[in-house]
Amino acid sequence: MAEQVLRVIGGEPLHGEVTVQGAKNSALPMMAATILCKGECVLHNVPRLTDVTAASRILNRLGCRCHIEDDTVTVAGDTISQYEIPDADMRQMRSSIMFLGPILGRMGACDLTMPGGCELGPRPIDLHLETMRRMGVSIEEEGSRIRCKANGLHGARIHLPFPSVGVSENVIMAATLAKGETVLTNAAREPEIIDLAAFLNRCGAKIYGAGESTVVVQGVEQLHPTAYTVMPDRIVAMTWLCAAAASGGSICVRGAHPRDMEACLSALESAGCRFGICPDRIFMDAARPVKAIADIRTMPHPGFPTDAQAILMALLATAQGMSVFEENIFESRYMHAGELLRMGANIRILGRTAIVRGVPKLHGASVTAQDLRGGAALAVAAVGAEGETVLHGLSHIDRGYADFAGVFNSLGGKVRRVLF
Ligand code: EPZ
Repeated sequence: MAEQVLRVIGGEPLHGEVTVQGAKNSALPMMAATILCKGECVLHNVPRLTDVTAASRILNRLGCRCHIEDDTVTVAGDTISQYEIPDADMRQMRSSIMFLGPILGRMGACDLTMPGGCELGPRPIDLHLETMRRMGVSIEEEGSRIRCKANGLHGARIHLPFPSVGVSENVIMAATLAKGETVLTNAAREPEIIDLAAFLNRCGAKIYGAGESTVVVQGVEQLHPTAYTVMPDRIVAMTWLCAAAASGGSICVRGAHPRDMEACLSALESAGCRFGICPDRIFMDAARPVKAIADIRTMPHPGFPTDAQAILMALLATAQGMSVFEENIFESRYMHAGELLRMGANIRILGRTAIVRGVPKLHGASVTAQDLRGGAALAVAAVGAEGETVLHGLSHIDRGYADFAGVFNSLGGKVRRVLF
């Protein structure tokens, strides 16, 4: 069956200005959180992504009227009539697990199945289920169906063994309407969690300390709707910076919050890129040549984000010297390495470690995205490579990037989305 591919002609430096889209990983939990509100919420700056469409489908299946118009999503959460998420929807999007907390918070029950795995490793949900049990939920697993029941949630003291982003979000969402106080320690500190808490507090929730390791939530009777503008996507911002750097160009990324990107900007500075920083925009001039970075370890925020690992590796594939990555968050997040090898990169994977020996230039090839950020990384490599790259697997990229080809072309890139 014919598929759409990106044909990328590399070798030209990218120059120009781009406004970064709203953050997928803030918009998705926020769409789920609207279930907790009695009335219609309006979310602005929501990017046009297949994951957003999938979240909208789940909301409508649950009985919440969800409508997407350009980058505005309206959700009437108070009409929810279901607490079961069909298997097809669970599989559609791994992060459908973030509906667990809001559905339980609002309905006191939730029926779902295991989300798909394999893309970045098994993606277990054991911590999600364990924390819900701590808040009074009884859970029966029948095959891949997971039946959760609770006679009202109650607050709890919960310590996470790992600062999981999704689990922190589920606990915070479930706790907003639970009886009493929830104290969550070793919580994830990602900026998207601050955004989610700001949205919920605007709806009348009592969430304190979001963005810190200890978050306190005092349960309230009910939440009222609000309008809210989603924060900018820091990983998409990093994608455009690395694309400009890989092509030897310069860029102004508007709308990005540099304060959320310290680890990413520091890495690009180590690679020799030069920056002009304002509170809501980043100017960058590429290093020529790019320098290798000896030690990049992905860590929970504010450490270097796992979602930017593949994207930075694509840039460092042509750096001067040897770069060493350590992927500490996901089991298997080096699928892009094999595709970069096809473009002439010199990369060795040893367990969680990737050793990247810079080569002078990559060459175009036929490559396939295996996951969202790995796919973006291949496009970053392609714009700096000599010749044409044909990029397959666009469905992964469409999950996280709105108008991917359009942005590259607005910067002088030569990227065509065509039927193959
Ligand atoms: C969120 O995923 C993001 N997704 C991911 O972005 C991001 O890579 C990740 O956080 C880390 O920053 C969304 O926000 C929608 P985790 P999440 O729970 O919540 C293990 C992208 O490209 N774990 O912090 O699933 C898990 O297997 C995506 O936009 C358990 O073991 O991340 C992983 O190894 C990719 N048991 C680690 O924790 C659990 O119950 C980090 O997962 C839950 C998680």
